[in-house]
Amino acid sequence: MPGIEFANLAPNIGAEVRGLDLSRPVAAAEMAALERALADRAVLLIRGQDITPEQHIAFSRQLGPLEDHVLSNFCLPGHKEIFVVSNIIENGKHIGAFGGSKQYHSDLAYLDEPSLGSVFHCLECPEEGGETSFVSMSAAYAALPEERKRWLQDKKAVFDYVWHYERTHRDRPALTDEQKAKVPPIAHPVVRTHPVNGVPSLFLTEIWIRRFEGMDDAESQKIVADLLAFATGPEFIYVHKWSPGDILIWDNRNSMHKACPFDETGTRRRMHRTTVTGTRPYFEAAA
Ligand code: SIN
Repeated sequence: MPGIEFANLAPNIGAEVRGLDLSRPVAAAEMAALERALADRAVLLIRGQDITPEQHIAFSRQLGPLEDHVLSNFCLPGHKEIFVVSNIIENGKHIGAFGGSKQYHSDLAYLDEPSLGSVFHCLECPEEGGETSFVSMSAAYAALPEERKRWLQDKKAVFDYVWHYERTHRDRPALTDEQKAKVPPIAHPVVRTHPVNGVPSLFLTEIWIRRFEGMDDAESQKIVADLLAFATGPEFIYVHKWSPGDILIWDNRNSMHKACPFDETGTRRRMHRTTVTGTRPYFEAAA
């Protein structure tokens, strides 16, 4: 193994990576080790990274091409690849996405090709609260009863971004017709196979899912809620307490995450996220 080391953060999810400096290009052998560890542990922590937006983007591109977020109003000026997540108001305007993400989700799950993962850089964080909580959806799936797994394996869930946005984000600007056209409802398999290690995971979120294909909204949402109540048991979770300079890479193909509450009016939280493009989810039954 090249000069990096991994140490697990929680039994089923997360590893800290030591020995990396993201201000410089990461060597191919180290990237291969990172990509495998990401598939196996879902969340990688790299501490002490005092990097510029350009260095953040350059490292993220080593994982793959980057998405431009549909909410371009929350991207870092001059850096459309960086989506700002923040409660800070400057010149009377929010500098980033605020007040959201307090429910478990995987980023851009509502796209035809949901994102592979995200690289999240902490610039400012409150002393209390504002952690990010992660769930291993592969460990949760593995722990389900076999009969439930079989029932889920041919199900598809309809993710509907506009439906969710219009019910939830009444404090944000209304979506334009152009924005709506980019995010039509999309059906994805509820169990997905990880393309790197072949491990199956639940592919569900607390937001955007309107129904299972062929079932009505209310019935579907009850089943989704039951599955998520199971998946968010403490054995499947890692909660990250942030320090400035932390970078977390998370894998959207086998995990969900959410931001934890904090004092949004009296403290500052400023995070930069790049989002790596992914491929269409699929399920392949084990041979
Ligand atoms: C996100 O959902 O991408 C951000 C999570 C956080 O703010 O902790």
